Amino acid sequence: MLWLMGKSLDLSRRAVRRPLMVPLRSLFGSHGRKFRFDPWGRYSYPNIHVGDYVSLGYRPILLAARSEIWIGNRVMFGPQVVIVGGNHNIAVPGQFMCDVYEKADNDDLDVTIEDDVWVGARAVILRGVRIGRGSVIGAGSVVTKSVPPYAIVAGNPARVVRFRWDVDTILRHEDALYPPEERYTREQLQKWQTAGAMLPLVKKAPITGIGAAASPPRVTPVVS
Ligand SMILES: CC(C)(COP(=O)(O)OP(=O)(O)OC[C@H]1O[C@@H](n2cnc3c(N)ncnc32)[C@H](O)[C@@H]1OP(=O)(O)O)[C@@H](O)C(=O)NCCC(=O)NCCS
Repeated sequence: MLWLMGKSLDLSRRAVRRPLMVPLRSLFGSHGRKFRFDPWGRYSYPNIHVGDYVSLGYRPILLAARSEIWIGNRVMFGPQVVIVGGNHNIAVPGQFMCDVYEKADNDDLDVTIEDDVWVGARAVILRGVRIGRGSVIGAGSVVTKSVPPYAIVAGNPARVVRFRWDVDTILRHEDALYPPEERYTREQLQKWQTAGAMLPLVKKAPITGIGAAASPPRVTPVVS
């Protein structure tokens, strides 16, 4: 009986969510096919670009008033993920912080999430972070630096816990999924795995092919 009540509540929530999603979807900067999001989340709509087969999870908060958020293809969010694309300017003496409207150089930076990423529940991703292809962000992580491809990161501040696979397995995985010109080389993968460290922030996300809803964001892989 309780199960049945739960099920019908879930169905009625979905019945409300779907028609709300249709008009709100067009407010995003751009999006691809099969893009699902919670209409009761908070979004800086025009500054958010999303690829194909993306689910933003339950009640996310994605804010980027003076920067942009780029999300690639086949990205999954757990519940209540937060992305913030800016900091207040806290460096001006003689003024209350809330009265400072001028931004310093790195206060607002794009956030980029490449293809095939899973962001765990309640992760917080800060401005300038680029999350590498195929990586996993642990629940509750605070991500302050960029994430190497295929890393599993966790904690506050987030650190590399391990990589999902060894280099040979990643190469086989990429052979199966990406055209040759988009695959990482053994040398690139080896470098990230040997370092086992987070990567620097990225000032401006080098993204190609953005624009029409029909052509979802192609997030250029990390090159450093
Ligand atoms: C990141 C995650 C996938 C790692 O799983 P895993 O590979 O099985 O990792 P382990 O449990 O073996 O943990 C490895 C280490 O990382 C730590 N760790 C794992 N997840 C962590 C997290 N979210 N925050 C902080 N530390 C974490 C563990 O304590 C362990 O540390 P130790 O080596 O010092 O003991 C998982 O812990 C996680 O956070 N999943 C997200 C779940 C979620 O949000 N689901 C929502 C539904 S979509």
